[in-house]
Amino acid sequence: MKETVLLIGGRGLIGKELTSFLEKQYHLFIFSTQKSACDDQKTFYWNIDKKILNTSILKRSNHIIYLAGEHIIKKRWSSYQKEEIFNSRIKGIKLCVQQLKIINDNDDSKKRNFITVAALPSNTSNQFIQSLITDWEKTILDIRSKYLNVFLIKVGFVLSNQGGLLAEIFQKSFWNLFFFWKKKHPFYWIHIYDLCQIIIQLIQKRIQSSIFYAITPEKATNLCFAKALQAALSKKYYFFFLPSIFFKIFLGQRAMILLHPFTKIHLRKKQHFKFCYPALKIALKNLLSNDGMVRKKLNRTIEE
Ligand SMILES: NC(=O)c1ccc[n+]([C@@H]2O[C@H](COP(=O)([O-])OP(=O)(O)OC[C@H]3O[C@@H](n4cnc5c(N)ncnc54)[C@H](OP(=O)(O)O)[C@@H]3O)[C@@H](O)[C@H]2O)c1
Repeated sequence: MKETVLLIGGRGLIGKELTSFLEKQYHLFIFSTQKSACDDQKTFYWNIDKKILNTSILKRSNHIIYLAGEHIIKKRWSSYQKEEIFNSRIKGIKLCVQQLKIINDNDDSKKRNFITVAALPSNTSNQFIQSLITDWEKTILDIRSKYLNVFLIKVGFVLSNQGGLLAEIFQKSFWNLFFFWKKKHPFYWIHIYDLCQIIIQLIQKRIQSSIFYAITPEKATNLCFAKALQAALSKKYYFFFLPSIFFKIFLGQRAMILLHPFTKIHLRKKQHFKFCYPALKIALKNLLSNDGMVRKKLNRTIEE
Protein backbone atom coordinates (compact mmCIF):
# COMPACT_ATOMS: atom_id res chain seq x y z
CA MET A 1 0.00 0.00 0.00
CA LYS A 2 1.21 3.50 -0.85
CA GLU A 3 2.39 5.56 2.13
CA THR A 4 1.32 9.17 2.63
CA VAL A 5 3.69 12.13 2.59
CA LEU A 6 2.73 15.59 3.78
CA LEU A 7 4.80 18.54 2.55
CA ILE A 8 4.40 21.62 4.71
CA GLY A 9 5.59 24.62 2.72
CA GLY A 10 5.70 22.34 -0.30
CA ARG A 11 5.15 25.06 -2.89
CA GLY A 12 8.62 26.53 -2.46
CA LEU A 13 11.88 25.81 -4.25
CA ILE A 14 12.68 22.49 -2.55
CA GLY A 15 9.06 21.41 -2.18
CA LYS A 16 8.26 21.74 -5.89
CA GLU A 17 11.27 19.68 -6.92
CA LEU A 18 10.51 17.08 -4.27
CA THR A 19 6.88 16.87 -5.38
CA SER A 20 7.96 15.74 -8.85
CA PHE A 21 9.81 12.76 -7.31
CA LEU A 22 7.34 11.88 -4.58
CA GLU A 23 4.01 12.01 -6.36
CA LYS A 24 4.83 8.88 -8.37
CA GLN A 25 5.38 6.72 -5.31
CA TYR A 26 3.33 8.23 -2.49
CA HIS A 27 -0.02 9.80 -1.71
CA LEU A 28 1.08 13.39 -1.50
CA PHE A 29 -0.52 16.30 0.38
CA ILE A 30 0.62 19.88 0.82
CA PHE A 31 -0.12 22.49 3.49
CA SER A 32 -0.01 26.03 2.15
CA THR A 33 -0.61 29.45 3.68
CA GLN A 34 -2.08 30.61 0.33
CA LYS A 35 -5.84 30.06 0.23
CA SER A 36 -5.78 30.49 -3.55
CA ALA A 37 -3.48 27.46 -3.88
CA CYS A 38 -5.91 25.18 -2.07
CA ASP A 39 -8.29 24.55 -4.93
CA ASP A 40 -7.14 21.02 -5.71
CA GLN A 41 -7.65 17.80 -3.75
CA LYS A 42 -4.15 17.69 -2.36
CA THR A 43 -3.39 21.21 -1.07
CA PHE A 44 -4.81 22.38 2.27
CA TYR A 45 -4.77 25.79 3.90
CA TRP A 46 -3.03 26.18 7.24
CA ASN A 47 -2.41 29.17 9.46
CA ILE A 48 0.09 29.16 12.30
CA ASP A 49 -1.28 32.16 14.25
CA LYS A 50 -4.89 31.01 14.02
CA LYS A 51 -3.84 27.40 14.66
CA ILE A 52 -5.66 26.19 11.55
CA LEU A 53 -4.40 22.88 10.20
CA ASN A 54 -6.09 19.81 8.74
CA THR A 55 -5.62 17.14 11.40
CA SER A 56 -7.06 14.31 9.34
CA ILE A 57 -4.30 14.78 6.74
CA LEU A 58 -1.76 14.98 9.54
CA LYS A 59 -3.17 11.75 10.98
CA ARG A 60 -3.01 10.01 7.62
CA SER A 61 0.62 10.98 7.02
CA ASN A 62 3.50 8.56 7.47
CA HIS A 63 6.08 11.21 6.63
CA ILE A 64 5.85 14.92 7.36
CA ILE A 65 8.39 17.07 5.57
CA TYR A 66 8.53 20.57 7.00
CA LEU A 67 9.84 23.10 4.46
CA ALA A 68 7.79 26.14 5.47
CA GLY A 69 9.58 29.35 6.27
CA GLU A 70 9.29 33.03 5.51
CA HIS A 71 12.09 33.85 3.04
CA ILE A 72 15.15 34.82 5.02
CA ILE A 73 16.78 37.36 2.75
CA LYS A 74 14.13 38.83 0.44
CA LYS A 75 12.70 41.48 2.80
CA ARG A 76 14.40 43.85 5.24
CA TRP A 77 14.61 42.56 8.78
CA SER A 78 12.11 44.76 10.56
CA SER A 79 11.03 43.40 13.93
CA TYR A 80 7.81 42.19 12.26
CA GLN A 81 9.81 40.37 9.57
CA LYS A 82 12.12 38.75 12.13
CA GLU A 83 9.07 37.47 13.96
CA GLU A 84 7.67 36.05 10.70
CA ILE A 85 10.97 34.30 9.91
CA PHE A 86 11.11 32.84 13.41
CA ASN A 87 7.44 31.88 13.83
CA SER A 88 7.05 30.34 10.38
CA ARG A 89 9.71 27.84 11.36
CA ILE A 90 9.68 27.33 15.10
CA LYS A 91 6.04 28.10 15.98
CA GLY A 92 4.91 26.18 12.87
CA ILE A 93 6.84 23.05 13.85
CA LYS A 94 5.48 23.28 17.40
CA LEU A 95 1.90 23.59 16.12
CA CYS A 96 2.26 20.44 14.01
CA VAL A 97 3.79 18.53 16.89
CA GLN A 98 1.07 19.64 19.36
CA GLN A 99 -1.55 18.30 16.96
CA LEU A 100 0.39 15.07 16.45
CA LYS A 101 0.51 14.61 20.22
CA ILE A 102 -3.29 14.94 20.40
CA ILE A 103 -3.57 12.37 17.59
CA ASN A 104 -1.24 9.99 19.46
CA ASP A 105 -3.03 10.54 22.79
CA ASN A 106 -6.22 9.43 21.05
CA ASP A 107 -4.82 5.97 20.62
CA ASP A 108 -3.07 6.32 17.31
CA SER A 109 0.24 4.54 17.76
CA LYS A 110 1.52 5.06 14.22
CA LYS A 111 5.20 6.01 14.21
CA ARG A 112 5.79 8.90 11.87
CA ASN A 113 8.85 10.54 10.37
CA PHE A 114 9.27 14.29 10.72
CA ILE A 115 11.91 15.76 8.44
CA THR A 116 13.02 19.33 8.17
CA VAL A 117 15.64 21.25 6.21
CA ALA A 118 17.53 23.92 8.13
CA ALA A 119 20.47 26.26 7.64
CA LEU A 120 24.01 25.48 8.75
CA PRO A 121 25.23 26.60 12.16
CA SER A 122 27.34 29.72 12.17
CA ASN A 123 29.70 31.67 14.38
CA THR A 124 27.93 34.94 13.83
CA SER A 125 27.64 37.61 16.50
CA ASN A 126 24.22 38.50 15.13
CA GLN A 127 21.83 37.55 17.91
CA PHE A 128 18.84 37.02 15.67
CA ILE A 129 20.62 34.52 13.41
CA GLN A 130 22.21 32.77 16.37
CA SER A 131 18.94 32.26 18.17
CA LEU A 132 17.07 31.37 14.96
CA ILE A 133 19.53 28.61 14.10
CA THR A 134 19.95 27.23 17.62
CA ASP A 135 16.23 27.37 18.47
CA TRP A 136 15.35 25.81 15.11
CA GLU A 137 17.70 22.89 15.77
CA LYS A 138 16.69 22.56 19.43
CA THR A 139 12.97 22.59 18.58
CA ILE A 140 13.46 19.80 16.06
CA LEU A 141 15.55 17.63 18.33
CA ASP A 142 13.21 18.21 21.31
CA ILE A 143 10.17 16.87 19.49
CA ARG A 144 11.57 13.34 19.24
CA SER A 145 9.26 10.87 20.89
CA LYS A 146 8.31 7.24 20.70
CA TYR A 147 5.80 8.23 18.02
CA LEU A 148 8.05 10.55 16.06
CA ASN A 149 11.35 9.88 14.28
CA VAL A 150 12.99 13.21 13.68
CA PHE A 151 15.47 14.05 10.94
CA LEU A 152 17.23 17.34 10.57
CA ILE A 153 18.91 18.04 7.25
CA LYS A 154 21.42 20.88 7.33
CA VAL A 155 22.19 22.67 4.10
CA GLY A 156 24.22 25.57 2.77
CA PHE A 157 23.13 26.89 -0.62
CA VAL A 158 20.71 24.75 -2.60
CA LEU A 159 21.60 25.12 -6.28
CA SER A 160 18.64 25.04 -8.64
CA ASN A 161 17.74 26.62 -11.97
CA GLN A 162 14.26 27.46 -10.65
CA GLY A 163 15.27 29.99 -8.00
CA GLY A 164 17.42 30.35 -4.87
CA LEU A 165 21.01 31.61 -4.99
CA LEU A 166 21.51 31.25 -8.76
CA ALA A 167 18.39 33.29 -9.43
CA GLU A 168 19.53 35.98 -7.00
CA ILE A 169 22.96 36.20 -8.63
CA PHE A 170 21.49 36.49 -12.14
CA GLN A 171 18.87 38.99 -11.03
CA LYS A 172 21.48 41.22 -9.41
CA SER A 173 23.85 41.02 -12.39
CA PHE A 174 23.86 43.52 -15.20
CA TRP A 175 25.57 43.56 -18.58
CA ASN A 176 28.17 40.83 -18.20
CA LEU A 177 28.96 41.54 -14.59
CA PHE A 178 28.39 39.28 -11.61
CA PHE A 179 28.91 40.38 -8.03
CA PHE A 180 30.23 38.21 -5.23
CA TRP A 181 31.35 38.53 -1.67
CA LYS A 182 34.57 37.34 0.06
CA LYS A 183 36.71 35.27 -2.33
CA LYS A 184 37.96 32.81 0.26
CA HIS A 185 34.68 32.34 2.08
CA PRO A 186 33.73 28.64 2.19
CA PHE A 187 30.95 27.82 -0.23
CA TYR A 188 28.76 25.03 1.14
CA TRP A 189 26.29 23.82 -1.45
CA ILE A 190 24.22 20.97 -2.83
CA HIS A 191 22.47 20.36 -6.16
CA ILE A 192 18.70 20.31 -5.59
CA TYR A 193 18.48 16.85 -7.17
CA ASP A 194 20.86 15.41 -4.56
CA LEU A 195 18.99 17.11 -1.72
CA CYS A 196 15.70 15.56 -2.89
CA GLN A 197 17.37 12.14 -3.12
CA ILE A 198 18.65 12.52 0.47
CA ILE A 199 15.12 13.32 1.69
CA ILE A 200 13.72 10.33 -0.23
CA GLN A 201 16.41 8.02 1.15
CA LEU A 202 15.60 9.21 4.67
CA ILE A 203 11.93 8.36 4.31
CA GLN A 204 12.84 5.03 2.77
CA LYS A 205 15.19 4.39 5.72
CA ARG A 206 18.19 4.02 3.43
CA ILE A 207 19.84 6.83 5.44
CA GLN A 208 19.59 6.53 9.22
CA SER A 209 21.31 9.63 10.68
CA SER A 210 19.04 11.99 12.61
CA ILE A 211 21.22 14.99 11.68
CA PHE A 212 22.45 14.90 8.11
CA TYR A 213 24.80 17.47 6.60
CA ALA A 214 23.61 17.70 3.02
CA ILE A 215 26.77 19.30 1.70
CA THR A 216 28.83 18.04 -1.18
CA PRO A 217 32.22 16.64 -0.17
CA GLU A 218 34.16 18.88 -2.59
CA LYS A 219 35.77 21.76 -0.67
CA ALA A 220 34.87 25.04 -2.34
CA THR A 221 35.12 28.78 -1.83
CA ASN A 222 33.22 31.64 -3.42
CA LEU A 223 36.10 31.93 -5.91
CA CYS A 224 35.67 28.25 -6.92
CA PHE A 225 31.96 28.90 -7.35
CA ALA A 226 32.61 31.92 -9.59
CA LYS A 227 35.10 29.96 -11.72
CA ALA A 228 32.73 27.01 -12.09
CA LEU A 229 29.93 29.40 -13.02
CA GLN A 230 32.07 30.93 -15.76
CA ALA A 231 33.01 27.46 -17.02
CA ALA A 232 29.34 26.53 -17.26
CA LEU A 233 28.54 29.55 -19.41
CA SER A 234 29.81 29.84 -22.94
CA LYS A 235 29.77 33.65 -23.01
CA LYS A 236 32.46 35.69 -21.20
CA TYR A 237 31.39 37.14 -17.86
CA TYR A 238 33.23 39.34 -15.38
CA PHE A 239 33.17 38.46 -11.71
CA PHE A 240 33.65 41.15 -9.08
CA PHE A 241 34.36 40.42 -5.46
CA LEU A 242 33.05 43.45 -3.64
CA PRO A 243 34.16 44.38 -0.12
CA SER A 244 31.79 43.27 2.65
CA ILE A 245 30.76 46.88 3.28
CA PHE A 246 28.77 46.94 0.00
CA PHE A 247 26.67 44.00 1.13
CA LYS A 248 26.21 45.55 4.56
CA ILE A 249 24.93 48.75 2.94
CA PHE A 250 22.58 47.02 0.48
CA LEU A 251 21.32 44.22 2.69
CA GLY A 252 21.69 45.70 6.17
CA GLN A 253 21.66 42.99 8.85
CA ARG A 254 20.75 40.39 6.21
CA ALA A 255 24.33 40.57 4.91
CA MET A 256 25.21 38.32 7.85
CA ILE A 257 23.68 35.42 5.91
CA LEU A 258 26.39 35.79 3.26
CA LEU A 259 29.28 37.09 5.32
CA HIS A 260 29.18 35.19 8.58
CA PRO A 261 31.70 32.43 9.20
CA PHE A 262 30.24 28.92 9.42
CA THR A 263 30.94 26.59 12.29
CA LYS A 264 33.52 24.09 11.04
CA ILE A 265 31.77 21.06 9.64
CA HIS A 266 33.42 17.77 10.52
CA LEU A 267 30.88 15.35 9.17
CA ARG A 268 31.73 15.54 5.52
CA LYS A 269 33.59 12.25 5.25
CA LYS A 270 31.07 10.23 7.24
CA GLN A 271 28.12 10.84 4.94
CA HIS A 272 26.67 7.65 3.51
CA PHE A 273 25.26 9.06 0.35
CA LYS A 274 26.49 8.95 -3.21
CA PHE A 275 26.18 12.41 -4.72
CA CYS A 276 25.06 12.55 -8.32
CA TYR A 277 26.55 16.06 -8.55
CA PRO A 278 29.64 16.02 -6.32
CA ALA A 279 31.50 18.87 -8.07
CA LEU A 280 30.48 22.45 -8.77
CA LYS A 281 31.50 22.30 -12.42
CA ILE A 282 29.27 19.29 -13.08
CA ALA A 283 26.37 20.70 -11.09
CA LEU A 284 26.41 24.12 -12.74
CA LYS A 285 26.83 22.66 -16.22
CA ASN A 286 23.77 20.54 -15.57
CA LEU A 287 21.71 23.42 -14.19
CA LEU A 288 22.65 26.00 -16.78
CA SER A 289 22.91 23.85 -19.87
CA ASN A 290 19.34 24.03 -21.06
CA ASP A 291 16.36 26.34 -20.94
CA GLY A 292 16.00 26.78 -17.22
CA MET A 293 15.03 29.69 -15.04
CA VAL A 294 18.07 31.63 -16.12
CA ARG A 295 17.02 32.15 -19.71
CA LYS A 296 13.26 31.89 -19.43
CA LYS A 297 12.27 33.69 -16.28
CA LEU A 298 14.94 36.27 -15.86
CA ASN A 299 15.13 37.21 -19.48
CA ARG A 300 18.68 38.26 -18.92
CA THR A 301 21.81 38.33 -21.07
CA ILE A 302 22.93 34.82 -20.32
CA GLU A 303 23.84 32.57 -23.23
CA GLU A 304 22.07 34.60 -25.88
N1 LIG B 1 16.93 27.09 -0.63
C1 LIG B 1 18.05 27.16 0.08
O1 LIG B 1 19.17 27.43 -0.44
C2 LIG B 1 18.01 26.87 1.59
C3 LIG B 1 19.22 26.88 2.31
C4 LIG B 1 19.19 26.63 3.69
C5 LIG B 1 17.98 26.40 4.32
N2 LIG B 1 16.83 26.41 3.60
C6 LIG B 1 15.56 26.23 4.34
O2 LIG B 1 14.79 25.16 3.79
C7 LIG B 1 13.39 25.48 3.88
C8 LIG B 1 12.76 25.36 2.49
O3 LIG B 1 13.54 26.14 1.58
P1 LIG B 1 12.97 26.63 0.16
O4 LIG B 1 14.14 27.15 -0.58
O5 LIG B 1 12.10 25.60 -0.47
O6 LIG B 1 12.09 27.87 0.64
P2 LIG B 1 11.05 28.76 -0.23
O7 LIG B 1 11.20 28.53 -1.67
O8 LIG B 1 11.20 30.15 0.28
O9 LIG B 1 9.64 28.14 0.22
C9 LIG B 1 9.24 28.09 1.56
C10 LIG B 1 7.73 27.87 1.64
O10 LIG B 1 7.35 28.28 2.96
C11 LIG B 1 6.03 28.82 2.91
N3 LIG B 1 6.03 30.10 3.64
C12 LIG B 1 6.56 31.28 3.26
N4 LIG B 1 6.35 32.21 4.21
C13 LIG B 1 5.67 31.59 5.20
C14 LIG B 1 5.15 32.03 6.45
N5 LIG B 1 5.28 33.30 6.87
N6 LIG B 1 4.51 31.11 7.23
C15 LIG B 1 4.37 29.83 6.85
N7 LIG B 1 4.82 29.36 5.66
C16 LIG B 1 5.47 30.23 4.86
C17 LIG B 1 5.68 29.08 1.45
O11 LIG B 1 4.62 28.19 1.08
P3 LIG B 1 3.10 28.69 0.93
O12 LIG B 1 3.16 30.07 0.34
O13 LIG B 1 2.45 27.68 0.04
O14 LIG B 1 2.56 28.66 2.33
C18 LIG B 1 6.94 28.72 0.68
O15 LIG B 1 6.64 27.99 -0.47
C19 LIG B 1 13.31 26.91 4.45
O16 LIG B 1 13.10 26.87 5.84
C20 LIG B 1 14.69 27.47 4.17
O17 LIG B 1 15.09 28.47 5.11
C21 LIG B 1 16.80 26.63 2.24
